[in-house]
Amino acid sequence: MADLSVDLGFCRLKNPLIPASGTFGYGEEFVPFMDLDIIGALVLKGIYRNARPGNPPPRLFETPAGLLNSIGLAGPGADELQGVIRRLSATTRTPIIVNVCGQDDAEFAEVAGIFAAMPEVAMLELNISCPNIKRGGACPAQDEKHTYRLVKRVKENIAKPLIVKLSPNAADIVAVARAAQEAGADALSLVNTFLGLAVDLEKRRPVFANTLAGLSGPAIKPLALRLVWEVCRQVRIPVIGMGGITSGKDVLEYILVGASAVQIGTVNFCEPAAAVRILAELEKEMEKLRLNNLNEIKGKLAV
Ligand SMILES: Cc1cc2nc3c(=O)[nH]c(=O)nc-3n(C[C@H](O)[C@H](O)[C@H](O)COP(=O)(O)O)c2cc1C
Repeated sequence: MADLSVDLGFCRLKNPLIPASGTFGYGEEFVPFMDLDIIGALVLKGIYRNARPGNPPPRLFETPAGLLNSIGLAGPGADELQGVIRRLSATTRTPIIVNVCGQDDAEFAEVAGIFAAMPEVAMLELNISCPNIKRGGACPAQDEKHTYRLVKRVKENIAKPLIVKLSPNAADIVAVARAAQEAGADALSLVNTFLGLAVDLEKRRPVFANTLAGLSGPAIKPLALRLVWEVCRQVRIPVIGMGGITSGKDVLEYILVGASAVQIGTVNFCEPAAAVRILAELEKEMEKLRLNNLNEIKGKLAV
């Protein structure tokens, strides 16, 4: 059987499949659907310092092959999440990744410090790319100078591996990726959702209260794959690719363009045990392609 393990430099995962933030709850919700020990790692839903109610409904809107969301990062706040993580770590040995959010740089640093200090947390993912905010979807990951400043500040505050999550809505994602790397990021993950707009024709209004929302799912896969390919060619640190993955073949495509691992997001909503199926498909595809391990194709896209 093929070796599915992947090397992120600072740690090795047993396979490249990682449920994406915001699509896998806080892990516990998925225990009825799968053995959490089968996945490479898991990312929890984004967390701020204090509890947040999130945006008013509607929060989700389906598009052909995609999903628009404007959740507004509803969540319990850092104190309550620490208890959830302690419970979760008692049920699985799979590395737990906390998706760190902040309204400003100080909050990002504070939240990162809280979770980096927990022995149950393997690494952090800095969500500098969430577009669901009132300022027209602006986020630190749209600006390389802000990204550098923020990543440096957070990194100085913690002694845990830091993954920086990039936005597809940046004018120059490669410049932002390089800035994160120079500031000390241990890995990058991309992409977060693409800014989109849905309209209600009868009301002549946007569907979402915040006007814009984030698009995910198969509709974004070719766009995300292109961005992952471009970033992988320009950075030295590992890249975790995501956007529209629904099959084992999709996983191999991301690895082929240079990703070290992948995250699976929207597919978890229509198929809660998607990771189990995708893992089995990945094994079969590797057998078909006569791959002994994922390094044999990582970054080997011939162009
Ligand atoms: C409902 C929903 C909530 C999300 N919440 C978060 C979040 O809290 N933090 C984050 O970094 N990304 C969040 N994302 C983005 C996903 O983690 C992922 O980057 C994106 O959906 C692209 O992957 P996919 O096409 O496989 O879904 C969310 C996505 C969806 C659909």
